[in-house]
Amino acid sequence: MPTPDLHAVELAETAAAAFREVFGAEPEGLWAAPGRVNLIGEHTDYNEGFVMPFALPFYAAVAVAKSETWEFHSTYGEGSTVRADALEGVEGWAAYLAGTAWALNESGYPVGPVRVAVHSDVPHGAGLSSSAALECAVLIALADLYGHEIDRAEAARIAQKAENEYVGAPTGVLDQSASLLCTEGNVMFLDCRDFSREQVPFDLAAEDLVMLVIDTQAPHRHVDGEYGARRADCEEAARRLGVPFLRDAPKDATLDDERLNRRMRHILTENDRVLETVAILKRGNVAGIGDLLTASHVSLRDDYEVSSVELDSAVDAALGAGALGARMTGGGFGGSAIALVEAAAAAKVEAAVVEAAADKGLPTPRVFFARAAAGAH
Ligand code: ADP
Ligand code: GAL
Repeated sequence: MPTPDLHAVELAETAAAAFREVFGAEPEGLWAAPGRVNLIGEHTDYNEGFVMPFALPFYAAVAVAKSETWEFHSTYGEGSTVRADALEGVEGWAAYLAGTAWALNESGYPVGPVRVAVHSDVPHGAGLSSSAALECAVLIALADLYGHEIDRAEAARIAQKAENEYVGAPTGVLDQSASLLCTEGNVMFLDCRDFSREQVPFDLAAEDLVMLVIDTQAPHRHVDGEYGARRADCEEAARRLGVPFLRDAPKDATLDDERLNRRMRHILTENDRVLETVAILKRGNVAGIGDLLTASHVSLRDDYEVSSVELDSAVDAALGAGALGARMTGGGFGGSAIALVEAAAAAKVEAAVVEAAADKGLPTPRVFFARAAAGAH
């Protein structure tokens, strides 16, 4: 087990206190799983391509104990408790927890009822994977309590199954993989085809750089149709080309369909950008990836059409104020952007991003520094 992240421990202690207060008993253990930023490799996961996430130092912490029925509590807002006699049909936020238990059962890892108290500081709806953090925290908790040794790559698939089949969001495996497999100080280069992966050192401080996360405060939505429509476009393009996934399409492939060609171009160029990013980072040159980040944004905006006015405003303002590179991160349609910035220019970039939003009458973005934190533990 990795050394627990101190901040995760603090969150877990608050989860434990909530457990005692709500259930009047002691939890059997404490677990935490982080949210993530995806450095590059967007919408490639469900095309069996490459992604490059790192874990954020924001965690969903859970205090858990076996019980007679299912009881879920979250400290979020004024606090909320959901009770259920069976796993079927749990709705709302507790569906992420019930769905994970359901997916474990379905995957041959039987688990019984538990009480769970959640305390999370992963901003939710910001495209930073607060829901995957919930799933992954409860997954490792249930596996430990019910004595199942589950490989982390398989665990990511099981948490994805919860999200896809129980919650009903047709997402790929990026978020759960990041939460379960990322390691402190590194960005993870992951091949979503076979889960082969490499932890690539990501030392911003060595180059006097910072990574800003810009939460546009414009909520993103996955259950809505657009994400599924992009997936369907990719599947249709792959089908017409006669390849299993777009990852396998030849670089010069074209179809008699302008939209599908643009979707395909994004996936193929994005996979290449991930490989180039890995090569540059391995040469110890974080500043050198700036142009690739920006090129990824342009491709997502123009070819894949998943950006939004809030994201474009943040990216353009950051670049205008001297960021080395900037892009939307996550699914898009709102959520967050990232900007790679020289530390000395961070305040200027933040001010520019906030001012650009104000000028356009957009919500005030929330800007913070990211660092590569520890995965679930
Ligand atoms: P993201 O994963 O990008 O944050 P999602 O829409 O996938 O966005 O997930 C957000 C949902 O996850 C919330 O609407 C809520 O149902 C659930 N969630 C996130 N954090 C918490 C929390 N602390 N307590 C309860 N539910 C949460
Ligand atoms: C999400 C989704 C991931 C991935 C990403 C885009 O947030 O959950 O599976 O597809 O959008 O790269």
